[in-house]
Amino acid sequence: MNVPVTSEPVKHKPTLLVVDDEAGPRDALKVILRPFFNIQAAESASAAIDVLNSRHIDLITLDQKLPDRQGLDLLQDIKHHHADVEVIIITGYGSLKSAMEGIRHGAAGYLLKPFNVTELLSLVNQTLEKKQRLDFLRHFIGTSTGLWGSETECAQAWSELIAGYHAIGKSTLGHEGKSDSLPDLLPLFSDLLEAKDRQLLNHCSRVSFYATLLGNRIDLTLAEQKSLALGAFLHDIGKIGPEPYQFADDEITVTGEAVGNRNHPEQGSKLVLPLKLSAEVGQIIAYHHERWDGAGYPFGLKEEGIPQLARIVCLAQTFDHLTAERPGRTPLSIDDACREMLKYAGTHFEKNLTELFSHMVQECKASLPAMAMATTPTDRSNS
Ligand SMILES: [Fe+2]
Repeated sequence: MNVPVTSEPVKHKPTLLVVDDEAGPRDALKVILRPFFNIQAAESASAAIDVLNSRHIDLITLDQKLPDRQGLDLLQDIKHHHADVEVIIITGYGSLKSAMEGIRHGAAGYLLKPFNVTELLSLVNQTLEKKQRLDFLRHFIGTSTGLWGSETECAQAWSELIAGYHAIGKSTLGHEGKSDSLPDLLPLFSDLLEAKDRQLLNHCSRVSFYATLLGNRIDLTLAEQKSLALGAFLHDIGKIGPEPYQFADDEITVTGEAVGNRNHPEQGSKLVLPLKLSAEVGQIIAYHHERWDGAGYPFGLKEEGIPQLARIVCLAQTFDHLTAERPGRTPLSIDDACREMLKYAGTHFEKNLTELFSHMVQECKASLPAMAMATTPTDRSNS
């Protein structure tokens, strides 16, 4: 069989853990995968955790239905305690909804039983390559001081980062030597956010989607629309530093309370400076926590002094913080989130824009969360 890995093979033979309670599918997976990988197997969630805690695992194929726990539940546990282990869900009980649920919780992919062998091997190889990229980025952002140094140091760090990423990557980066062109950088930005934390990537993807929806309702040029989609996607890029990421950290509540790293707008806008993105993208990153009444941060800008695209992203990210699921808090419904935000129209947010946003999300609320997760700025940049 003509298989694996990629143009840039991993340095060690990867170890896969097959988690399935049924001997038939488990043995089939072992037979298919054994020629190319080291294989471990577990027939329950607790056995899988034991293996994970006792040896290095690169990738897990996870049956969605296990005797002691649901696969999705185990997946969340794995991504919490072993964030660098990639997971592919293999299930006979699949549906689009459960597939998206698994991917939202950090699964790299999804296969339905009975699976096609070529499809399985191709997905495993793609996922291992993605793991190489994420491991490289995790190490880089966890150790680099240059990214947060002077503009010259930051530019040098970016060129090392992009070169290292290119060396692992392949077609996803487009043609070599065009690493500063925007379409080429989008997969890197997405991987950077995911390398920091899957929740950060999910948040940024949804915020970009909500901001783009609102941008479509107002009179923006095509260039402004593109800057809005990208700026919203990168609005929290200042959080990829070595400090641990907590979604709740950036809880900008509509009452104006904000906890966590208040430097991230400035850090983020400085970070992207060497990339020569549009000025609007930098403004969105720098000003997305400013308030209409001047009580925001970090600059205390007020009213029309806050660039319009940053005002849009401020609304979009607040809406996402109110409506997104996270441990320990029940998310608000779309209606309740709109009611909450409208209370602060004219103080925290620009009044007309808030009303338009509220009207817009209520109009398409039936499909809103699914749509927000289903698209990325990478998709939109091609449209
Ligand atoms: Fe933020």
